[in-house]
Amino acid sequence: MKDRINELKEKFSKDLTDVSDLKSLEELRLDFLSKKGKISSLMQELSKIPNEQKKEAGQMINSFKQEVSLKFDAKMEELKKLELEKLIELTESYDESLPEDLEKGSYHPITLIQRELEDIFESMGFDVEDYNEIVDDYHCFEALNIPPFHPARDMQDTYYLSTPNQLLKSHTSAAQNAIMEKYGPLLKKNGRPIRAVFPGRCFRNEAIDACHENTFFQMEGVMIDKDISISNLIYFMKTMLSQVFERDVTVRLRPGFFPFVEPGFELDIQCLICGGKGCPSCKNSGWLELCPCGMIHPNVLKAGGINTEENPYEYTGFAFGLGLTRLAMMKYGVKDIRTFNEGDLNALSQFVSR
Ligand code: FA5
Repeated sequence: MKDRINELKEKFSKDLTDVSDLKSLEELRLDFLSKKGKISSLMQELSKIPNEQKKEAGQMINSFKQEVSLKFDAKMEELKKLELEKLIELTESYDESLPEDLEKGSYHPITLIQRELEDIFESMGFDVEDYNEIVDDYHCFEALNIPPFHPARDMQDTYYLSTPNQLLKSHTSAAQNAIMEKYGPLLKKNGRPIRAVFPGRCFRNEAIDACHENTFFQMEGVMIDKDISISNLIYFMKTMLSQVFERDVTVRLRPGFFPFVEPGFELDIQCLICGGKGCPSCKNSGWLELCPCGMIHPNVLKAGGINTEENPYEYTGFAFGLGLTRLAMMKYGVKDIRTFNEGDLNALSQFVSR
């Protein structure tokens, strides 16, 4: 009996290896596991062997049956996966319904500039993070030292969802708190500085003109460690701008108020559309507000779990909120910000990645 079981085991293994589709697998299953299959006949043969051998032989048959079922299930999974992959390959390589002269698409200029900036910051050791478009009041305002009814909220009116406490984020700073909570433990445990950029779509309920949209992109950046100062901030801003524009651009730094930084600055770029003379793209001022920035306010570092009440200045950091859509205007010479959201392929398809 033992020899017979071992013989069948060998046969099953060989037959299973030869099986290459679900149909032959089902045939093999019937051959071994059905009522009239090989394992059932083994069971019937049990009655014919001497009593003292029955127990051991019965156990062998049962464990063989289990082994066959397990191997059968595994093979079935493997074959199903293979068949799906084959199907995907087929549909990907041949779609009868596609027109013959289909033109290739192109990346949106905001995607191009976002990727370029991500590369620049990654080369300087920054992590790239993603964040929600729908956020709550705490992350968009309160964690950033903007309590309810603070006048700074007037500058960033946004769209509120009917679900209580849910809104479309008005700036990428809304992710600062989450970034601090994610990377703070690594900073404290391993001394790894927090260096992260997080691009994203922002929404504001405001009047639209050549340089203001209600839906636009920003890229936020933060760096937090011991002894971070304004010099670090200026170094990173200058490096980023010289790499994006690949030429000298005139910038100016002036004081700016944001409740989540202290001190705060506005970094403006001289309008590259009019060369600083004044035009609708820069609201006739010759300058375009591009990248507000500053040293992160102690209350924000505390809310993010970085510093404690007892040691409120252990770590310091800078933050900036780059206007990505405006940067794209300057880089590609687009005079009107609305071009980016209009979906006119003639306008949008002319930009190519370097
Ligand atoms: C902010 O949104 C702050 N969160 C930025 C910040 C981050 C400050 C970190 C300090 C530290 P502001 O509202 O100025 O700031 O917007 C930042 C940039 O986004 C602007 O300079 C501008 O380039 C761009 N921006 C703002 N509003 C619009 C809009 N309606 N359309 C297009 N771009 C806009």
